[in-house]
Amino acid sequence: MRKLVYYIASTLDGFIAGPDNSDPTGPDGFWPIPEDYIQHLIAEYPETLPAPARAALSITADGTHFDTVLEGRRSYEIGLKAGLTNAYPHLRHLVFSRTLTESPDPDVELIADDPAATVRELKQQEGKDIWLVGGAELAGALYSEIDALIVKLSPMTIGSGIPLFSHKAVFEPRTWELTDHTVLKSGAAFLTYARRTPTA
Ligand SMILES: NC(=O)c1ccc[n+]([C@@H]2O[C@H](COP(=O)([O-])OP(=O)(O)OC[C@H]3O[C@@H](n4cnc5c(N)ncnc54)[C@H](OP(=O)(O)O)[C@@H]3O)[C@@H](O)[C@H]2O)c1
Repeated sequence: MRKLVYYIASTLDGFIAGPDNSDPTGPDGFWPIPEDYIQHLIAEYPETLPAPARAALSITADGTHFDTVLEGRRSYEIGLKAGLTNAYPHLRHLVFSRTLTESPDPDVELIADDPAATVRELKQQEGKDIWLVGGAELAGALYSEIDALIVKLSPMTIGSGIPLFSHKAVFEPRTWELTDHTVLKSGAAFLTYARRTPTA
C-alpha cells in the first residue's frame, strides 16, 4: 500500500519556518540552501522541486518517490502570492482548506473534508507514495496517518518558529526506525524514518 510521507525541511531545533508564516527558503528567506543539498534533491527527489525550478534546471524526470502532493492552505498561498497557482503540475496536487471556495487552478484539488479520511482513501489507490509537504497544521491533522518521515535536516537553529507539527496535533508518542540516511559535506542530512508502533 502506498504510504503517506512527511518530507520536510527542518532546522536542528525542529522548526520548518520562522514565526511569520513566510517562505524561509524564498528570496528574502533566512534559510541557506547549500549547493550539495540542491544536487541531492535533483538526483534523488526531482519531483519535489517546484515547476519553475524544474524548468530553470531543465529537469523533466518524474522521480521515483511521489506522484501526489498534499498541502495546507497557508503553505499553498505562499506560491499563490508569488503568482504560482500550481507549483507541482507534474504531481496530483491536493490543497486542504475550509475557507477557499474555488480552486485558483484547474489542476489543484481543493479539499475541505477531514484530511485523515482523504488520506485513507488515497492510500487505497494505486500509485507512488503521497508527499505531505506541510505545513505544521496540516501535518498535525495527519499525525496519526504518517507512515514515514524524510527530514531534510539543516545545520542551523532558529530559536523559535513553526514546529514540525502544530501544537494542535494530538499527544501520541511514536518511535521511528531510521531506514536511510545521507549526510552531506555542508552538514545537511537527509534522514528517512519508518513508523514503528505507538509506544503508549
Ligand atoms: N520546511 C518546509 O519544508 C516547509 C514545507 C511546507 C511549509 N512550510 C512552512 O509552513 C508554514 C505554513 O504552515 P502552517 O502550519 O502555518 O499552515 P498549513 O498547515 O500550511 O496550512 C494550514 C491551513 O490548512 C488547512 N487545514 C489544516 N487542517 C485542516 C483540516 N483538518 N481540514 C481542512 N483544512 C485544514 C486550513 O486552511 P483554512 O484556514 O483555509 O481552512 C489551515 O488554515 C509556512 O511558513 C511555510 O513556509 C515549510
